Order: sequence, then C-alpha cells, then structure tokens
Amino acid sequence: MASAEPSRKAGYGRHVSEPPAALGGGGRPRLGPRLEGALRAAVGEGHLLTDPDLTASYERDWTGRYGGPAAAVVRPGTTDEVAAVLRVLSAESVAVVPQGGNTGLVGGGVPRAGEVVLSLRRLRGDVHVDPEDRLLEAGAGTTLAEAQQAAREVGLEVGLDLAARDAATLGGMVATNAGGVRVVRHGPLRRRLAGLEAVLADGTVVDRRGGLLKDNVGYDLPGLFAGSEGTLAVVTRVLLRLEPLPASRVAAFVALRAPEALGTPGAGRATATALQVGREILRLGGIEVLEVVYPPGVRLVCEHAGLPAPPDPGADAWLLVEATGDDEVTTARLGALLDAHPLVSATAVALDAPGRAALFAYRERHTEAIARLGVAHKLDVAVPLSRLARLAAEVVDAVAARWPDAATVLFGHLGDGNLHVNVVGPPPDDDEVDALVLGIVLAHGGSVSAEHGVGVARLPFVSRARHPGDLAAMRAVKRALDPRGVLNPGVLIPAG
Ligand code: MLT
Ligand code: ZN
Repeated sequence: MASAEPSRKAGYGRHVSEPPAALGGGGRPRLGPRLEGALRAAVGEGHLLTDPDLTASYERDWTGRYGGPAAAVVRPGTTDEVAAVLRVLSAESVAVVPQGGNTGLVGGGVPRAGEVVLSLRRLRGDVHVDPEDRLLEAGAGTTLAEAQQAAREVGLEVGLDLAARDAATLGGMVATNAGGVRVVRHGPLRRRLAGLEAVLADGTVVDRRGGLLKDNVGYDLPGLFAGSEGTLAVVTRVLLRLEPLPASRVAAFVALRAPEALGTPGAGRATATALQVGREILRLGGIEVLEVVYPPGVRLVCEHAGLPAPPDPGADAWLLVEATGDDEVTTARLGALLDAHPLVSATAVALDAPGRAALFAYRERHTEAIARLGVAHKLDVAVPLSRLARLAAEVVDAVAARWPDAATVLFGHLGDGNLHVNVVGPPPDDDEVDALVLGIVLAHGGSVSAEHGVGVARLPFVSRARHPGDLAAMRAVKRALDPRGVLNPGVLIPAG
C-alpha cells in the first residue's frame, strides 16, 4: 500500500498542501508498468507514490508560484536505494527532481513537466556528533532543527540558522548553499561543509567525508555540489563543521529614525541609516546576526502574528542584532553604543531564549506574513554594501511607478548586503516585475540570487549574470557528470 509522508511542520509556518489545479485527471504523465515496477523493487512497495492525493504536496513549492505534475514520487530510505533509483531512471533517460523539505523559493525542487520527484526526506534520523573534532554527520533528510538540537546537546552549534529550520533539510541546504541569519559571522552552508556523500546520475556513490580542515587531494567536490541545486549529484549524507556554543547571547531589536541628511524619505534613507548604525555595531565584534526590517513588513507581521507593537512604532527601520560573548561585557558595549546613538530611537534587549525568540519573530515571520497578501514575486538580491541604499530606493520607486497598487516589502540580511524584495500584486505568472528589479540589481553589479538559488525562477538571468566562459565551464561540468541530462533539467543552467 502506498503511504503518505508522515505530516511534518513545513517551513515558514504555513503549509501549502493544496494540489495545483493542473493536476489529476487524464493529463497526468505516467512511467508505465515496467519502470514503476523497477522503482518499486528499488525502494519498496510503499515508497513509490503515483496517487495524486499522495503526490500533491511534492508537486508545488512553498510560494505556490512554481510546480507541475510529477510522473511519480520515489522515497528511498538509504544511499543504496538512491543509487538504485538513479540507475533505473538514467538508463531510461527519465528526468528526476531531487527534493528535500520543499522549502525552496525559486522552483528548483519541484517538478515542472512530468519529472520523477526523488524525495530524500526518509534519509534522516541518523545524526552523529563528534564533540572532539567538532563535526556532525547526518542523512540528507535530517532537518536543520534536528541537527541544531543534536549539536546543542554536546555544547556545540551548527552556525547556520533560518526561519524554515523545522522543515528545511541538510541535503536541500547543501544543494542551495543556504544562507540565513548567521552568514555575517559563520558564512553560508558551503563554509560549514566538512564533507558529504552523494550519488551521481548513473548511480555512482561519491564519498568525501574526511572532515579535515586541510585536504588538497583533488577537486573540491563537496564545494562543487554545494549550490548545484540537484543538477550534478544527489546529496545523501552531510558532514558539517560545528562551533562552540557561546557563553551567552544578547539580542537587540533596534528602532532607527532616518535623518534628512541621508536622502529622500523612504527605503533608501532608511537603509542608509541602518547601514550607518549597522557598521558601528559590527565594529564591536562578536556580532552573529545583523538583519534589517522596515515599516511595511513590521506592520504586516504584527497584524498577521499578533505581535505587540515594536519599539518606537513610528521608526523608519529596525535592526535585529545578536551578539555573543560574556553577558555583561556584550550588553554593556552594545548598550553604550545604542543608548547614546543619535539615530537610535528605542531598543528592546533580551538575554534569555524566549525573549530572544520574541525579538526574532519581528524578522522571522516576514515570509509567512507576506504570503498572506498573495503569491509574492520574491527577489533575493545582493549588492556591495556601498550600493545597498541606492538599490533599495530605486527598486521601491520603480515598482511603485509601474504598479502603483502593488505591495513592496523589503527585509533581509543587512550585514551580507542581501535584501529580500517581495512584490505582491502583479500576477504570479507575469515576470515583468522580476525583470525590472533584477535589471536594477545587475546595473549595480549585484547578484540576482544571493541565497535562494537559481531554480527556474532566475534561469532567464543567468546568462546576464555570468561571463560566457563561466557558463561554458558550468555546462562542461554538467555534461561530464550527467551526460544524459536527467538531474533536474531546466534548473540553474540555461539551454544553449
Ligand atoms: C529569509 O531570510 O527569511 C528567507 O530567505 C526567506 C525569504 O526570503 O522569504
Ligand atoms: Zn534570507
């Protein structure tokens, strides 16, 4: 009997489970009895799903903007089963979409036109922490929250965090080189990656789990697979470097008033103010989190999540800061800077975990609050810090000029120069707003995808964002590792 995945909390606090309208009925792609039989033999009777009621939640991404029918969903439980599935599919040149927790935001982990979904969620529950060498090894289907918990139990931490922690899987995070709110201190996933096990398109298992800091024998395959979005290999096990848990953490939610001297009112002036104060905060040292939010997003979060009014509800922007180190020293140094700062109008500080979580909620609940407005155009962009304020101003003005009724909500990772631009209003299938925003980003020498990946959403911009030689090298690597082009076709690498 086919069985549904046990229900689990999806990322960002909202579970999209409605089947897409295009699914069901006679148009559904099928693999045929021979292939279905081979896949069933590879993973066991209950783990090949073809019933639309069971496959629906694997076929649409969290945003509701991307997805399509799958020919089937296959749920292997071991590396050997992943290899067996890939051998069957590549022998028949059947396209396959690897999927982790399905918390992606660019359509890179959902089927588009009848591919097989390879769900890695069953590769979990096998977490090993080595406190002496400060390493964690786990199956690709382990959630970030599970890994964080295992590390914490021995006084260590993963050094990575993001709002979708309860559903995002380590394999998916490797595939997208996930970022999150602690990149300013610990870097994105690739910097935390100590090794991995992965399966190539033809079923070959690549095992690079040495865990050494220095090991120059050959190509950095884990580094190459990180951010490859399931186009080069399927990650099955992940080895992460851990950090010591800090003695304490201090979180602050800092309200800012933007002075006239920093530009015309609006997002540009607010961002310039946030940057000025943010740079001073970073100079204190020990800063793990430096995020920015603005009035439209904070209003929305308070309405949606019922949060109390933030410090100085009339502020032009807020910084979410977390500093680690000795309680008294950190609080005193942060306090000395913020209390006297002319651009800071109010600050809320928290030292204990519940208090810190309450402050983080103003930032972390943006994604789900924005989703309540409708299907958002989610642009995830980075520019040099020196350009960030101009970018914010130009993007907000350009969108308002073209779509006066659209809601534009900015928030993001100030310390990384990475803003999330969310536009709700223009129809989800109209790409004009994406092109408008990303055109501005490219003109500022920025990245059209800072941390969410390319997926299908950013595919049209890859050739503008990468040098032709760069693209040729990416295509050569893809051809070498996946000559039949079965792994996540239509994602990351533009046709050409
Ligand atoms: C975040 O920083 O919260 C995530 O990247 C999600 C998002 O952009 O909505
Ligand atoms: Zn983000």
